[in-house]
Amino acid sequence: MRRDIKVVPFYRMPFGTLLTVTDHRMQNMNPAVEGQAQALEQRFARLFGESPRIYQAPGRVNLIGEHTDYNDGFVMPAAIGFYTRVAVAPRPDRKLVIHSENYSEQVEFDLDGLPATRAGHWSDYVIGVVKMLVRSGKQLRGANLLVDGNVPLGAGLSSSASLEVAVGYALLDLADRAIEPPTLERIKIDRIKIDRIKIDRTGLALLCQQAENEFVGARCGIMDQFVSSHGKHGQALLLDCRSLEYRQLPLPPDVALAICNTMVKHSIAKGEYNQRRAECETGVRTLSKHLPQVRALRDVTVEDLETYGQELPDVVMRRCRHVIGENDRVLQAAAALERGDLQAVGSLMLESHRSLRDDFEVSCAELDLMVELAGRAEGVYGTRMTGGGFGGCTIALVQSGCVEAFERKVREGYERSTGCQPEIYICAAADGVGQVAATSAEKWVRSE
Ligand code: GLA
Repeated sequence: MRRDIKVVPFYRMPFGTLLTVTDHRMQNMNPAVEGQAQALEQRFARLFGESPRIYQAPGRVNLIGEHTDYNDGFVMPAAIGFYTRVAVAPRPDRKLVIHSENYSEQVEFDLDGLPATRAGHWSDYVIGVVKMLVRSGKQLRGANLLVDGNVPLGAGLSSSASLEVAVGYALLDLADRAIEPPTLERIKIDRIKIDRIKIDRTGLALLCQQAENEFVGARCGIMDQFVSSHGKHGQALLLDCRSLEYRQLPLPPDVALAICNTMVKHSIAKGEYNQRRAECETGVRTLSKHLPQVRALRDVTVEDLETYGQELPDVVMRRCRHVIGENDRVLQAAAALERGDLQAVGSLMLESHRSLRDDFEVSCAELDLMVELAGRAEGVYGTRMTGGGFGGCTIALVQSGCVEAFERKVREGYERSTGCQPEIYICAAADGVGQVAATSAEKWVRSE
Protein backbone atom coordinates (compact mmCIF):
# COMPACT_ATOMS: atom_id res chain seq x y z
CA MET A 1 0.00 0.00 0.00
CA ARG A 2 1.46 3.41 -1.00
CA ARG A 3 1.57 6.12 1.62
CA ASP A 4 -0.34 8.63 -0.48
CA ILE A 5 -3.77 7.66 0.76
CA LYS A 6 -6.10 10.62 0.82
CA VAL A 7 -7.79 10.95 4.17
CA VAL A 8 -11.14 12.61 3.45
CA PRO A 9 -13.05 14.65 4.33
CA PHE A 10 -10.50 16.94 5.91
CA TYR A 11 -10.90 20.48 7.06
CA ARG A 12 -8.64 22.29 4.68
CA MET A 13 -6.95 25.24 6.27
CA PRO A 14 -4.59 26.57 3.64
CA PHE A 15 -1.65 28.58 4.90
CA GLY A 16 -2.70 32.19 4.81
CA THR A 17 -6.30 31.69 5.90
CA LEU A 18 -7.20 34.73 7.92
CA LEU A 19 -7.86 34.48 11.60
CA THR A 20 -10.64 36.93 12.24
CA VAL A 21 -11.70 38.41 15.52
CA THR A 22 -14.73 36.13 15.57
CA ASP A 23 -12.38 33.15 15.39
CA HIS A 24 -11.17 33.81 18.91
CA ARG A 25 -12.49 31.15 21.21
CA MET A 26 -13.46 32.74 24.45
CA GLN A 27 -12.44 30.16 26.97
CA ASN A 28 -13.85 31.70 30.11
CA MET A 29 -16.89 29.47 30.43
CA ASN A 30 -15.36 27.23 33.06
CA PRO A 31 -15.34 28.85 36.55
CA ALA A 32 -12.01 27.21 37.46
CA VAL A 33 -10.36 28.63 34.35
CA GLU A 34 -11.92 32.01 34.99
CA GLY A 35 -10.61 31.96 38.57
CA GLN A 36 -7.07 31.15 37.42
CA ALA A 37 -7.25 33.85 34.76
CA GLN A 38 -8.40 36.39 37.30
CA ALA A 39 -5.52 35.49 39.60
CA LEU A 40 -3.11 35.98 36.70
CA GLU A 41 -4.77 39.29 35.84
CA GLN A 42 -4.30 40.50 39.42
CA ARG A 43 -0.70 39.35 39.51
CA PHE A 44 -0.07 41.17 36.23
CA ALA A 45 -1.63 44.34 37.64
CA ARG A 46 0.69 44.11 40.68
CA LEU A 47 3.76 43.58 38.49
CA PHE A 48 3.08 46.00 35.66
CA GLY A 49 0.38 48.30 37.05
CA GLU A 50 -2.23 47.71 34.36
CA SER A 51 -4.82 45.27 33.01
CA PRO A 52 -3.79 42.56 30.54
CA ARG A 53 -5.50 40.35 28.03
CA ILE A 54 -5.08 36.68 28.80
CA TYR A 55 -4.54 33.79 26.41
CA GLN A 56 -4.00 30.10 26.92
CA ALA A 57 -2.65 27.26 24.80
CA PRO A 58 -2.89 23.62 25.86
CA GLY A 59 -0.41 20.78 26.12
CA ARG A 60 -1.19 17.57 24.26
CA VAL A 61 -1.19 13.82 24.43
CA ASN A 62 -0.70 11.66 21.38
CA LEU A 63 -2.99 8.65 21.07
CA ILE A 64 -0.99 6.99 18.30
CA GLY A 65 1.47 7.99 15.55
CA GLU A 66 4.83 8.52 17.21
CA HIS A 67 7.90 9.83 15.38
CA THR A 68 5.84 9.94 12.20
CA ASP A 69 5.28 13.69 11.97
CA TYR A 70 8.79 14.58 10.76
CA ASN A 71 8.51 11.72 8.27
CA ASP A 72 5.53 13.42 6.58
CA GLY A 73 3.23 10.82 8.13
CA PHE A 74 0.08 10.64 10.24
CA VAL A 75 -0.53 11.40 13.92
CA MET A 76 -3.53 11.33 16.26
CA PRO A 77 -3.04 13.81 19.12
CA ALA A 78 -5.56 15.53 21.40
CA ALA A 79 -5.11 18.78 23.29
CA ILE A 80 -5.48 18.31 27.07
CA GLY A 81 -6.62 20.56 29.90
CA PHE A 82 -3.16 21.67 30.99
CA TYR A 83 -2.21 25.12 29.78
CA THR A 84 0.39 27.79 29.41
CA ARG A 85 -1.28 31.16 30.03
CA VAL A 86 0.09 34.46 28.90
CA ALA A 87 -1.13 37.81 30.20
CA VAL A 88 -0.16 40.66 27.87
CA ALA A 89 -0.42 44.43 27.62
CA PRO A 90 1.24 46.77 25.13
CA ARG A 91 4.13 49.09 26.05
CA PRO A 92 4.84 52.48 24.54
CA ASP A 93 8.45 51.48 23.67
CA ARG A 94 10.00 48.60 21.69
CA LYS A 95 10.79 46.44 24.71
CA LEU A 96 9.49 42.98 25.52
CA VAL A 97 9.48 42.41 29.26
CA ILE A 98 8.72 38.78 30.04
CA HIS A 99 8.07 37.51 33.55
CA SER A 100 7.81 33.78 34.20
CA GLU A 101 5.80 32.68 37.21
CA ASN A 102 7.15 29.13 36.90
CA TYR A 103 10.78 30.23 37.05
CA SER A 104 10.26 33.42 39.15
CA GLU A 105 12.40 35.28 36.67
CA GLN A 106 12.07 38.36 34.49
CA VAL A 107 13.92 39.05 31.26
CA GLU A 108 13.94 42.03 28.90
CA PHE A 109 14.60 42.24 25.17
CA ASP A 110 14.59 44.98 22.58
CA LEU A 111 12.47 44.14 19.54
CA ASP A 112 15.09 45.84 17.36
CA GLY A 113 18.02 43.96 18.85
CA LEU A 114 16.88 40.40 19.49
CA PRO A 115 19.58 37.85 20.39
CA ALA A 116 21.07 36.03 17.42
CA THR A 117 21.49 32.71 19.22
CA ARG A 118 19.78 30.73 21.93
CA ALA A 119 20.85 31.02 25.55
CA GLY A 120 19.70 27.60 26.81
CA HIS A 121 17.05 29.40 28.88
CA TRP A 122 13.24 29.18 29.03
CA SER A 123 13.05 32.53 27.26
CA ASP A 124 14.52 30.91 24.10
CA TYR A 125 11.05 29.58 23.28
CA VAL A 126 9.54 33.05 23.55
CA ILE A 127 12.32 34.79 21.65
CA GLY A 128 12.30 32.08 18.97
CA VAL A 129 8.63 32.75 18.30
CA VAL A 130 9.15 36.52 18.32
CA LYS A 131 11.98 36.19 15.81
CA MET A 132 9.93 34.01 13.47
CA LEU A 133 7.00 36.41 13.67
CA VAL A 134 9.26 39.32 12.81
CA ARG A 135 10.91 37.36 9.99
CA SER A 136 7.50 36.58 8.51
CA GLY A 137 6.78 40.30 8.32
CA LYS A 138 4.53 40.71 11.35
CA GLN A 139 4.72 44.16 12.84
CA LEU A 140 5.06 43.50 16.54
CA ARG A 141 4.91 46.11 19.27
CA GLY A 142 6.54 46.33 22.66
CA ALA A 143 4.73 44.45 25.41
CA ASN A 144 4.76 43.27 29.00
CA LEU A 145 4.13 39.53 29.32
CA LEU A 146 3.40 37.39 32.34
CA VAL A 147 3.72 33.66 31.62
CA ASP A 148 2.34 30.92 33.84
CA GLY A 149 1.79 27.28 33.02
CA ASN A 150 0.59 24.05 34.57
CA VAL A 151 1.65 21.67 31.79
CA PRO A 152 4.00 19.26 33.62
CA LEU A 153 7.54 20.19 32.55
CA GLY A 154 9.74 17.58 30.87
CA ALA A 155 6.89 15.06 30.87
CA GLY A 156 6.48 14.86 27.10
CA LEU A 157 3.13 16.70 27.19
CA SER A 158 4.36 19.62 25.07
CA SER A 159 4.83 22.34 27.61
CA SER A 160 7.18 24.05 25.11
CA ALA A 161 4.71 23.97 22.23
CA SER A 162 2.00 25.38 24.49
CA LEU A 163 4.32 28.22 25.53
CA GLU A 164 5.22 28.98 21.92
CA VAL A 165 1.63 28.91 20.69
CA ALA A 166 0.28 30.97 23.60
CA VAL A 167 2.95 33.65 23.15
CA GLY A 168 2.60 33.69 19.36
CA TYR A 169 -1.16 34.05 19.50
CA ALA A 170 -1.00 36.72 22.19
CA LEU A 171 1.56 38.86 20.35
CA LEU A 172 -0.28 38.56 17.09
CA ASP A 173 -3.53 39.57 18.66
CA LEU A 174 -1.81 42.53 20.24
CA ALA A 175 -0.20 43.57 16.96
CA ASP A 176 -3.43 43.03 15.15
CA ARG A 177 -5.54 45.29 17.27
CA ALA A 178 -3.03 48.10 17.09
CA ILE A 179 -3.66 48.40 13.39
CA GLU A 180 -6.74 49.78 11.69
CA PRO A 181 -9.04 47.05 10.36
CA PRO A 182 -8.26 46.39 6.69
CA THR A 183 -10.66 47.84 4.15
CA LEU A 184 -12.27 45.57 1.62
CA GLU A 185 -10.35 47.27 -1.14
CA ARG A 186 -7.03 46.61 0.53
CA ILE A 187 -7.95 42.97 1.04
CA LYS A 188 -8.47 42.64 -2.70
CA ILE A 189 -5.38 44.46 -3.83
CA ASP A 190 -2.91 43.58 -1.14
CA ARG A 191 -3.42 40.16 0.28
CA ILE A 192 0.18 40.03 1.48
CA LYS A 193 -0.22 43.09 3.61
CA ILE A 194 -3.32 41.64 5.19
CA ASP A 195 -1.50 38.43 5.97
CA ARG A 196 1.01 40.56 7.80
CA ILE A 197 -1.49 41.55 10.40
CA LYS A 198 -3.53 38.38 10.73
CA ILE A 199 -2.56 34.78 10.97
CA ASP A 200 -4.29 31.45 10.76
CA ARG A 201 -3.86 28.69 13.32
CA THR A 202 -1.94 26.50 10.90
CA GLY A 203 0.38 29.39 10.07
CA LEU A 204 0.90 30.01 13.77
CA ALA A 205 1.75 26.33 14.38
CA LEU A 206 4.28 26.38 11.54
CA LEU A 207 5.93 29.53 12.88
CA CYS A 208 6.22 27.99 16.32
CA GLN A 209 7.73 24.82 14.88
CA GLN A 210 10.26 26.93 12.99
CA ALA A 211 11.12 28.71 16.23
CA GLU A 212 11.88 25.38 17.86
CA ASN A 213 13.76 23.97 14.85
CA GLU A 214 15.82 27.02 14.03
CA PHE A 215 16.26 28.88 17.30
CA VAL A 216 15.84 26.41 20.14
CA GLY A 217 17.62 23.68 18.20
CA ALA A 218 15.16 20.76 18.50
CA ARG A 219 14.22 19.37 15.09
CA CYS A 220 10.67 18.54 16.17
CA GLY A 221 7.82 17.87 13.77
CA ILE A 222 4.56 19.82 13.53
CA MET A 223 2.31 17.67 15.73
CA ASP A 224 2.56 19.48 19.07
CA GLN A 225 2.19 23.04 17.81
CA PHE A 226 -0.59 21.99 15.44
CA VAL A 227 -2.80 20.39 18.06
CA SER A 228 -2.09 23.16 20.57
CA SER A 229 -3.43 25.55 17.92
CA HIS A 230 -6.28 23.46 16.49
CA GLY A 231 -7.36 21.22 19.40
CA LYS A 232 -11.08 20.69 19.91
CA HIS A 233 -13.00 19.76 23.02
CA GLY A 234 -13.89 16.05 23.05
CA GLN A 235 -11.97 15.31 19.84
CA ALA A 236 -8.68 13.85 18.79
CA LEU A 237 -7.23 15.06 15.48
CA LEU A 238 -6.14 12.82 12.64
CA LEU A 239 -3.46 14.96 11.03
CA ASP A 240 -1.67 14.38 7.76
CA CYS A 241 1.68 16.00 8.50
CA ARG A 242 2.51 16.40 4.81
CA SER A 243 -0.57 18.25 3.59
CA LEU A 244 -1.56 19.54 7.05
CA GLU A 245 -5.11 18.44 6.36
CA TYR A 246 -6.85 17.14 9.41
CA ARG A 247 -10.02 15.50 10.54
CA GLN A 248 -11.63 15.59 13.96
CA LEU A 249 -12.25 12.24 15.60
CA PRO A 250 -14.82 12.34 18.39
CA LEU A 251 -13.67 10.45 21.48
CA PRO A 252 -16.36 8.42 23.23
CA PRO A 253 -17.56 10.40 26.29
CA ASP A 254 -17.30 7.32 28.52
CA VAL A 255 -13.60 6.83 27.82
CA ALA A 256 -10.94 8.73 29.78
CA LEU A 257 -7.45 9.58 28.61
CA ALA A 258 -5.36 8.37 31.54
CA ILE A 259 -1.89 9.86 31.33
CA CYS A 260 0.70 8.26 33.61
CA ASN A 261 3.86 10.23 34.30
CA THR A 262 6.89 8.01 34.99
CA MET A 263 8.56 11.12 36.46
CA VAL A 264 11.61 10.33 34.34
CA LYS A 265 12.44 13.71 32.80
CA HIS A 266 12.48 13.91 29.08
CA SER A 267 13.89 16.59 26.82
CA ILE A 268 13.75 16.35 23.08
CA ALA A 269 16.30 19.13 22.75
CA LYS A 270 18.84 16.48 23.72
CA GLY A 271 20.63 14.54 20.99
CA GLU A 272 18.64 11.28 20.82
CA TYR A 273 15.61 12.83 19.14
CA ASN A 274 17.63 14.58 16.44
CA GLN A 275 19.59 11.38 15.95
CA ARG A 276 16.39 9.37 15.28
CA ARG A 277 15.39 11.97 12.75
CA ALA A 278 18.77 11.75 11.03
CA GLU A 279 18.49 7.94 10.87
CA CYS A 280 15.12 8.25 9.13
CA GLU A 281 16.69 10.67 6.64
CA THR A 282 19.50 8.18 5.95
CA GLY A 283 16.83 5.57 5.18
CA VAL A 284 15.14 7.94 2.73
CA ARG A 285 18.41 8.79 0.97
CA THR A 286 19.26 5.12 0.38
CA LEU A 287 15.77 3.99 -0.58
CA SER A 288 15.22 6.89 -2.95
CA LYS A 289 18.11 5.67 -5.10
CA HIS A 290 15.82 2.81 -6.12
CA LEU A 291 12.53 4.61 -5.62
CA PRO A 292 12.92 8.15 -6.95
CA GLN A 293 9.37 9.08 -5.93
CA VAL A 294 10.31 8.63 -2.25
CA ARG A 295 10.63 12.03 -0.53
CA ALA A 296 10.04 10.84 3.03
CA LEU A 297 9.37 7.56 4.82
CA ARG A 298 5.71 8.33 4.30
CA ASP A 299 6.22 7.29 0.66
CA VAL A 300 7.78 3.89 1.44
CA THR A 301 5.68 0.72 1.64
CA VAL A 302 6.27 -2.45 3.62
CA GLU A 303 7.00 -4.19 0.30
CA ASP A 304 9.55 -1.53 -0.67
CA LEU A 305 11.34 -2.07 2.61
CA GLU A 306 11.32 -5.84 2.12
CA THR A 307 12.83 -5.41 -1.35
CA TYR A 308 15.50 -2.80 -0.64
CA GLY A 309 15.85 -2.86 3.16
CA GLN A 310 18.88 -5.17 3.17
CA GLU A 311 20.95 -2.27 1.82
CA LEU A 312 20.30 -0.32 5.00
CA PRO A 313 22.32 -0.67 8.21
CA ASP A 314 20.28 -2.73 10.70
CA VAL A 315 19.51 0.27 12.93
CA VAL A 316 18.24 2.36 10.03
CA MET A 317 16.18 -0.57 8.75
CA ARG A 318 14.45 -0.88 12.13
CA ARG A 319 13.80 2.87 12.36
CA CYS A 320 12.19 2.75 8.92
CA ARG A 321 10.13 -0.32 9.82
CA HIS A 322 8.71 1.49 12.84
CA VAL A 323 7.69 4.59 10.90
CA ILE A 324 6.13 2.68 8.01
CA GLY A 325 4.18 0.39 10.35
CA GLU A 326 3.15 3.29 12.60
CA ASN A 327 1.65 5.25 9.72
CA ASP A 328 -0.54 2.28 8.88
CA ARG A 329 -1.51 1.87 12.51
CA VAL A 330 -2.66 5.50 12.75
CA LEU A 331 -4.95 5.15 9.76
CA GLN A 332 -6.29 1.85 11.04
CA ALA A 333 -6.84 3.32 14.51
CA ALA A 334 -8.74 6.28 13.03
CA ALA A 335 -11.03 3.93 11.12
CA ALA A 336 -11.52 1.78 14.23
CA LEU A 337 -12.32 4.82 16.39
CA GLU A 338 -14.87 5.98 13.84
CA ARG A 339 -16.65 2.66 13.88
CA GLY A 340 -16.50 2.59 17.69
CA ASP A 341 -14.14 -0.38 17.87
CA LEU A 342 -12.07 0.57 20.90
CA GLN A 343 -10.65 -2.92 21.28
CA ALA A 344 -9.03 -2.55 17.87
CA VAL A 345 -7.69 0.91 18.77
CA GLY A 346 -6.25 -0.60 21.95
CA SER A 347 -4.47 -3.45 20.12
CA LEU A 348 -2.92 -0.94 17.72
CA MET A 349 -1.69 1.14 20.67
CA LEU A 350 0.05 -1.90 22.12
CA GLU A 351 1.66 -2.71 18.77
CA SER A 352 2.79 0.89 18.56
CA HIS A 353 4.45 0.64 21.96
CA ARG A 354 6.29 -2.56 21.04
CA SER A 355 7.54 -1.01 17.84
CA LEU A 356 8.75 2.12 19.66
CA ARG A 357 10.46 -0.06 22.24
CA ASP A 358 12.11 -2.61 19.94
CA ASP A 359 12.57 -0.92 16.56
CA PHE A 360 12.69 2.79 17.25
CA GLU A 361 14.27 2.33 20.69
CA VAL A 362 12.82 5.40 22.37
CA SER A 363 11.17 3.70 25.33
CA CYS A 364 12.82 3.07 28.70
CA ALA A 365 12.34 0.60 31.56
CA GLU A 366 9.95 2.93 33.43
CA LEU A 367 7.72 3.48 30.38
CA ASP A 368 7.64 -0.26 29.69
CA LEU A 369 6.72 -0.94 33.30
CA MET A 370 3.94 1.64 33.22
CA VAL A 371 2.53 0.13 30.03
CA GLU A 372 2.63 -3.32 31.57
CA LEU A 373 0.85 -2.17 34.74
CA ALA A 374 -1.78 -0.19 32.85
CA GLY A 375 -2.36 -3.05 30.44
CA ARG A 376 -3.20 -5.34 33.35
CA ALA A 377 -5.80 -2.99 34.88
CA GLU A 378 -9.49 -3.50 34.29
CA GLY A 379 -11.39 -1.43 31.72
CA VAL A 380 -8.27 -0.53 29.72
CA TYR A 381 -8.64 -0.71 25.93
CA GLY A 382 -5.02 0.04 25.17
CA THR A 383 -1.91 1.79 26.41
CA ARG A 384 1.46 2.94 25.09
CA MET A 385 4.22 5.46 25.64
CA THR A 386 3.32 8.88 24.27
CA GLY A 387 5.47 11.72 22.92
CA GLY A 388 9.16 11.70 22.07
CA GLY A 389 10.10 9.00 24.61
CA PHE A 390 13.17 8.39 26.83
CA GLY A 391 10.94 9.05 29.84
CA GLY A 392 7.82 11.15 30.19
CA CYS A 393 4.35 9.65 30.04
CA THR A 394 2.22 6.77 28.86
CA ILE A 395 -1.39 7.06 27.78
CA ALA A 396 -4.17 4.56 28.41
CA LEU A 397 -7.73 4.58 27.11
CA VAL A 398 -9.79 3.64 30.16
CA GLN A 399 -13.53 3.12 30.64
CA SER A 400 -14.71 6.01 32.84
CA GLY A 401 -16.20 3.67 35.45
CA CYS A 402 -12.84 1.98 35.98
CA VAL A 403 -10.69 5.08 36.36
CA GLU A 404 -10.40 5.07 40.15
CA ALA A 405 -9.34 1.42 40.34
CA PHE A 406 -6.95 2.04 37.44
CA GLU A 407 -5.26 4.90 39.22
CA ARG A 408 -4.89 2.94 42.44
CA LYS A 409 -3.51 -0.16 40.78
CA VAL A 410 -1.04 1.60 38.53
CA ARG A 411 0.17 3.91 41.29
CA GLU A 412 0.73 1.05 43.74
CA GLY A 413 2.43 -1.17 41.19
CA TYR A 414 4.74 1.59 39.97
CA GLU A 415 5.72 2.66 43.46
CA ARG A 416 6.36 -0.90 44.53
CA SER A 417 8.70 -1.57 41.60
CA THR A 418 10.52 1.74 41.34
CA GLY A 419 10.17 3.38 44.77
CA CYS A 420 9.01 6.47 42.91
CA GLN A 421 5.54 8.05 43.02
CA PRO A 422 4.04 8.51 39.57
CA GLU A 423 1.58 11.26 38.71
CA ILE A 424 -1.61 10.23 36.96
CA TYR A 425 -3.72 12.75 35.07
CA ILE A 426 -7.24 11.84 33.99
CA CYS A 427 -7.95 14.05 31.01
CA ALA A 428 -10.50 14.76 28.34
CA ALA A 429 -9.67 16.33 24.98
CA ALA A 430 -9.61 20.15 25.21
CA ASP A 431 -9.82 23.21 22.94
CA GLY A 432 -6.77 24.76 21.31
CA VAL A 433 -5.31 28.23 21.84
CA GLY A 434 -7.63 31.13 22.58
CA GLN A 435 -8.31 34.14 24.71
CA VAL A 436 -9.32 33.16 28.22
CA ALA A 437 -10.95 36.18 29.72
CA ALA A 438 -11.07 39.68 28.45
CA THR A 439 -10.61 42.65 30.71
CA SER A 440 -13.93 44.06 31.85
CA ALA A 441 -13.90 46.80 29.21
CA GLU A 442 -13.68 44.27 26.42
CA LYS A 443 -15.97 41.56 27.62
CA TRP A 444 -18.94 42.84 25.66
CA VAL A 445 -17.05 43.22 22.44
CA ARG A 446 -15.43 39.83 22.52
CA SER A 447 -18.20 37.52 23.70
CA GLU A 448 -20.48 36.23 21.00
C1 GLA B 1 8.01 15.30 20.20
C2 GLA B 1 8.05 16.23 19.00
C3 GLA B 1 6.96 15.89 18.01
C4 GLA B 1 6.96 14.41 17.65
C5 GLA B 1 7.02 13.56 18.92
C6 GLA B 1 7.21 12.10 18.60
O1 GLA B 1 6.85 15.52 20.92
O2 GLA B 1 7.91 17.57 19.41
O3 GLA B 1 7.08 16.68 16.85
O4 GLA B 1 7.99 14.11 16.77
O5 GLA B 1 8.08 13.94 19.77
O6 GLA B 1 6.10 11.60 17.95
